[in-house]
Amino acid sequence: MPAAPRTRLYQPTPLNLQRLALRLRRGELVAVPTETVYGLAGDALNPEACARIYAAKGRPGNDPLIIHVHRLAQAKQLAHWNETAAALARAFWPGPLTLVLPKTALVPDITTSGLPNVALRMPAHPVFRRLLRLTGRPLAAPSANPFGYVSPTTSAHVRDGLDGRIPAILEGGPCALGLESTIVDVRDPQQPRVLRPGAIGLDALAAVLGRRPIGRRRTVSRNHAAVAPGLLARHYSPRLPLTLFRSRPHAVGVGEAVVYFGPGFVPASATGNHIFTLSRDGTGASAARRLFSLLRELDGGVWSRVHIQLPPVKDPWAPALEDRLRRAAAR
Ligand code: TXA
Ligand code: MG
Repeated sequence: MPAAPRTRLYQPTPLNLQRLALRLRRGELVAVPTETVYGLAGDALNPEACARIYAAKGRPGNDPLIIHVHRLAQAKQLAHWNETAAALARAFWPGPLTLVLPKTALVPDITTSGLPNVALRMPAHPVFRRLLRLTGRPLAAPSANPFGYVSPTTSAHVRDGLDGRIPAILEGGPCALGLESTIVDVRDPQQPRVLRPGAIGLDALAAVLGRRPIGRRRTVSRNHAAVAPGLLARHYSPRLPLTLFRSRPHAVGVGEAVVYFGPGFVPASATGNHIFTLSRDGTGASAARRLFSLLRELDGGVWSRVHIQLPPVKDPWAPALEDRLRRAAAR
């Protein structure tokens, strides 16, 4: 049997970026760094490239892809814009905000899973921005992990999940934010709606919109999946069982680990090598940066179950962190 092709890691040198831009223009896939999580990028306007993305991830065809753009003009060609979308883009792009808008005919059906809407984001990561500029095309990029597993926040995580299934990974260092973008449905400019909480919180959105956007119901039933198909209850899931707790864990058995939110949250009685902390300094930002790599570490360890503390509700990152933790814990 022929050996599986190795996935090559490229350092972000000018020559490598040129090479990878060329591959993307030919319809090949490249895993790319973003400020949120690593993405698996392909030409958003090339149906074959998009089909390769679904295949490499093992992603069902009814879960649409986010399109990443380099410039606002590109985004305007792909969607029908309104004032609310323009105001949010002005405030938060480039950055961790994804806007859902009615798509134009330019966007192939496979990119949006046949939906009449498209999700758009202008990322901030300087390496990905250079690649977007060189490629000159909008790039579809879901998180670069096998469907349903924890999103990757380092190039090593991408390799762990997709080695041999994709030709190339572009190195961009550990992701600065660590959780996926905030997704806002702005099809109705009067009623923007948060589909997935992320780095940009409700307060920051409200400051731009002049009122609070509609929040999001925690779980979306399968019937509603067409609105935001990736928002099924079980997602971002490690293999090992997780139990969430607010203030103290219940019935910790032998061989089970406990993750407290931060150093100041660990009771004096909790000692031993089964005790972990998520946030290094007790902030939500630090917890967000570390959550997915800690889940992967624990998943690869000896634990039969992990008890994880939910974030303090007042932290601006709390909705995004709690969302990812609840999905990871759902069975
Ligand atoms: O931060 C991020 O958003 C990362 C980086 C790589 O940009 N991307 C990401 O993509 O998280 P993905 O595919 O793992 O999650 C995208 C979510 C999915 O839940 C998908 O269902 C939803 O966005 N989505 C994509 N297109 C949509 C559309 N047209 N309408 C509604 N939801 C959409
Ligand atoms: Mg994902």
